[in-house]
Amino acid sequence: MAVDNALQRVDELLLSIAESAVPLLRQTSQHILGAGGKRVRPRLLLLSFEAAGGVDFDEAIPLAAAVEIIHTATLVHDDINDHGTLRRGRETVNSRWGGTYALLTGDYLFTRTYELMAPYSTELNRILARASTALVEGETMQIQAAREGTFDAATYFEIISRKTAALFVACAELGATAANPPTAWVSALSQYAFNLGIAFQLIDDVLDLASDSAHLGKNAGIDIAQGRGIAVALQSAGASDGKSSAAVEVKNNLSHDALQEAILGGYTVEDAIAKGRAKAQDFADQALAQLDHLPLSAASAALRDLAHQVIERDH
Ligand code: FPP
Ligand code: MG
Repeated sequence: MAVDNALQRVDELLLSIAESAVPLLRQTSQHILGAGGKRVRPRLLLLSFEAAGGVDFDEAIPLAAAVEIIHTATLVHDDINDHGTLRRGRETVNSRWGGTYALLTGDYLFTRTYELMAPYSTELNRILARASTALVEGETMQIQAAREGTFDAATYFEIISRKTAALFVACAELGATAANPPTAWVSALSQYAFNLGIAFQLIDDVLDLASDSAHLGKNAGIDIAQGRGIAVALQSAGASDGKSSAAVEVKNNLSHDALQEAILGGYTVEDAIAKGRAKAQDFADQALAQLDHLPLSAASAALRDLAHQVIERDH
């Protein structure tokens, strides 16, 4: 079975997960899971499985569904925190159903992964559990740093390592470990995924600055307004006290341009876009270098392509 066929099966499994006996949860889950998405994480998991010698995708499909469900749960919760109104080209769950039902939808999706993971080993369950914890830690650190005006470059790296790269690492480790290969291959795929995850989030933040909501299918241009993201992190690296100058307490009174000036000082959004892209390329190169430790195969070639796609994506 080719990876694309396996991804189709993952999508079918996702939609069956949305079949709650409670109509409200069924509607909200179908709304967000049925909206599609890039499915980068399940693709990474399935390709890691194949690159590590896995043959029968049936062994990895529930794992791929589990990581996509956790990712989707975090987006539903993230949109509550960020007051997002648009996700995957649709109205957010919090916007249509309100924060309480969005909270419960994220909880519902998250808890459904227990059942998917139950047949797997303690080792695989532990990998996903650690990543789930890291996601919550990363989101919490981000909100705290933005609120307290301490969003500097080092904090930014810690945040994106947890809120994004940790789940990428889990995808690679789950897929690879399920194929039972030599440990050096799992380690190479894990490091590939960490670097890919950092590159992915850097580009995500670049697109927040460089693109628009209609194109992204989610709210663009909110990072600076919320005192976070690549531009704020890079600006702080040049600031004398090493702290972000995020104008947290005055942001509601400023126009978009004035807010940008208050937060970024002399630093421009164009600088941030260019530096963000260059840094993302560095991390993608690090990811690609790890693939040299794996045998050549169609799957390892597809992982190479994935790193290029992550850098070149425009949404
Ligand atoms: C998107 O970031 C958010 C994340 C990658 C992680 C969010 C994590 C939580 C809300 C913790 C909850 C965890 C569980 C397990 C339910 P972003 O706001 O930069 O991206 P966006 O532009 O796509 O909104
Ligand atoms: Mg968000």
